Amino acid sequence: MPQDPTIQARLEELRGLIHHHDHCYHVLDTPEIADAEYDSLYDELVKLEAEHPQLVVDDSPTQRVGAAPLGEFASVTHEVAMLSLDKTTNHSELGDWIERCRGRLGTDEAIDFTCEPKIDGVAVALIFEDGKLVLGSTRGNGQTGEDITANVRTIRSVPLRLRGDDLPLRLEVRGEIYIAKTDFDAFNERARDRGEKPLVNPRNGAAGSLRQLDPRVTADRPLTMFCYSLGWVDGAWQPETHMEALARIEAWGLRINPAVTLVEGLEGCQRYVDELQQRRDELGYAIDGAVIKVDSLDQQRRLGALTRKPRWAIAYKYPAEEATTRVLGVGFQVGRTGAITPVAKLEPVFVGGVTVSNATLHNMDEIGRLDLRIGDTVMVRRAGDVIPQVASVIKAKRPKRARKVRLPKHCPACGSDVVQPEGEAVARCGAGPATCPAQRKEGLKHFVSRLALDVEGLGHKLIEQLVDVGLAAVAADLYELDIESLASLERMGSKSAENLLAALDDSKDTTLARFIYALGIREVGEATALNLAQHFGEISGIREADVEQLEGVADVGPVVAQNIVGYFQDADNLDALDRLLAAGVRWPAVEAAAQGQPLAGQTWVLTGTLKTMTRGAAKARLQSLGAKVVGSVSAKTSTVVAGPRAGSKLAKARELKVAVMDEAALLALLEEHDAL
Ligand code: IVH
Repeated sequence: MPQDPTIQARLEELRGLIHHHDHCYHVLDTPEIADAEYDSLYDELVKLEAEHPQLVVDDSPTQRVGAAPLGEFASVTHEVAMLSLDKTTNHSELGDWIERCRGRLGTDEAIDFTCEPKIDGVAVALIFEDGKLVLGSTRGNGQTGEDITANVRTIRSVPLRLRGDDLPLRLEVRGEIYIAKTDFDAFNERARDRGEKPLVNPRNGAAGSLRQLDPRVTADRPLTMFCYSLGWVDGAWQPETHMEALARIEAWGLRINPAVTLVEGLEGCQRYVDELQQRRDELGYAIDGAVIKVDSLDQQRRLGALTRKPRWAIAYKYPAEEATTRVLGVGFQVGRTGAITPVAKLEPVFVGGVTVSNATLHNMDEIGRLDLRIGDTVMVRRAGDVIPQVASVIKAKRPKRARKVRLPKHCPACGSDVVQPEGEAVARCGAGPATCPAQRKEGLKHFVSRLALDVEGLGHKLIEQLVDVGLAAVAADLYELDIESLASLERMGSKSAENLLAALDDSKDTTLARFIYALGIREVGEATALNLAQHFGEISGIREADVEQLEGVADVGPVVAQNIVGYFQDADNLDALDRLLAAGVRWPAVEAAAQGQPLAGQTWVLTGTLKTMTRGAAKARLQSLGAKVVGSVSAKTSTVVAGPRAGSKLAKARELKVAVMDEAALLALLEEHDAL
């Protein structure tokens, strides 16, 4: 049947445009059109292809989820083996390896290395013929893997067709498929909402998603890919360095990790691995170390490989963030607001670089969700400074005598009845701080903490002592301490007592926002405290406000409003507040002036990395102009500042049509208002 050339041309044009915009969005993270415009191109292509099914081609963007479910995966023999890596865990072994490289190469000169994050995902190889993706396979045992082409095709950051005209006839690109942390969290939140099984961790999630026989399941998983090497390439063009290969891979439209860096010699490698470890939590994806590769491909060839491991590359491993251990028991902690938190007592285990013997279990619902019992073997996670968590229970290892966890009937600190209101996940001590010493201690710890009144040198142990001996019960008592009473405490010399009194005196000069936060009203965090301070400008206004007035404050809903009203209805709280003011706690009356500030009433979100300042600094500067800076994007958000590698927040902003600006625009705005 003769084809209509205009239809054929339009189809090609649409496919080219969609490929281009997929690349902008999923690879470069810099979209050029609005989602609605993209959708209309896509819809037009779907419609035209439906009208002309004979013109559908395999690499059309509509064909990502094409194939029907498979019975099993075919096996694939790799044309060039996919090697694994030798590993090291410290600077000195790294130095030994570099010395061995220099010895074998017979050079006294510093070697150039590329340093890359070692992504914790699944290694895959992609073969392109004539620019078209024809095969995606897993590493398998290095010689033979599985054909997962249908699944790989569903990943939007993997092009079905390479960019450029001068393409080698056949080539293979290798890299790691993974799930970004925010995507992982969002996916699991959705799964839990729908009553579906959440993914255990990003790595398992990626591996499990690629092992699906039905590509429609894979398409629903937030997978992405960083390419990290050229497996092989047929044709005249051959790269001379690893960096050159990566640059070419990027030009073909594949995604390259922006954290890959070319460095010189041992010192360069050491600096990189240390800096990367520092940034580990900010990367947005899980890594288990760095990979260091000799950059010159000629040097790589001269160094050669052992059976399974090349001599020209090495993995520098960081401490694992996950480990398995046994639950010896479950204890219950009482928090500042009386909330009772179950804590798993663990057989000590080294994880995330420290020995962990406790992990929070959040609440009884979480224990139910994990189906955790005493005696179970569990997977513990500790990433960065975050408190250790129980990620999952290894049911296969459950002993016969594993015991169920029961919520205590009485508060472990004061013996009062434990209450759990219908429909609430959190159980609480039925008494207040007047009765419960644990609540008094936690309330004081919160009051003196860094984001509250920031009293230097008043640690947890000391607070516990003060409460136990009856020297302090509420915050105002702290300002009535004197040298004599402090000197009566164990291990308290007169010098430390003087220092503490001076620190307490210093802490009286604060801000209204910090003061409100320090009061410890239930669900009034740092951001809400700032909103309240800016809205009312004085403590008396907040104290007298009714629920309706409070709900007029940004981010304050009915529950928080009721908590605030309830707090100020309590005679003990009012008394304690008056005593604090009488003790001289004070703040400058500037915050309410936010009304007249350029960004007053606006809510901003920062996401991705910024080059010229930290996010904390950007936040402070925006706040100085009256903006509220929060962590999540909603329809109320005024503007999102997105740096490179912004993830789900940027996507959400686009979805909600919230204004987005880049770092340069932010700098211009700050400059305009003298806030730089
Ligand atoms: S290079 C011979 N680069 O680590 C070179 N591997 O133990 C071998 N991996 O199976 C791979 N990030 O899945 C390389 N930037 C990176 C990597 C990386 C993660 C994984 C890969 C491989 C394993 C090697």
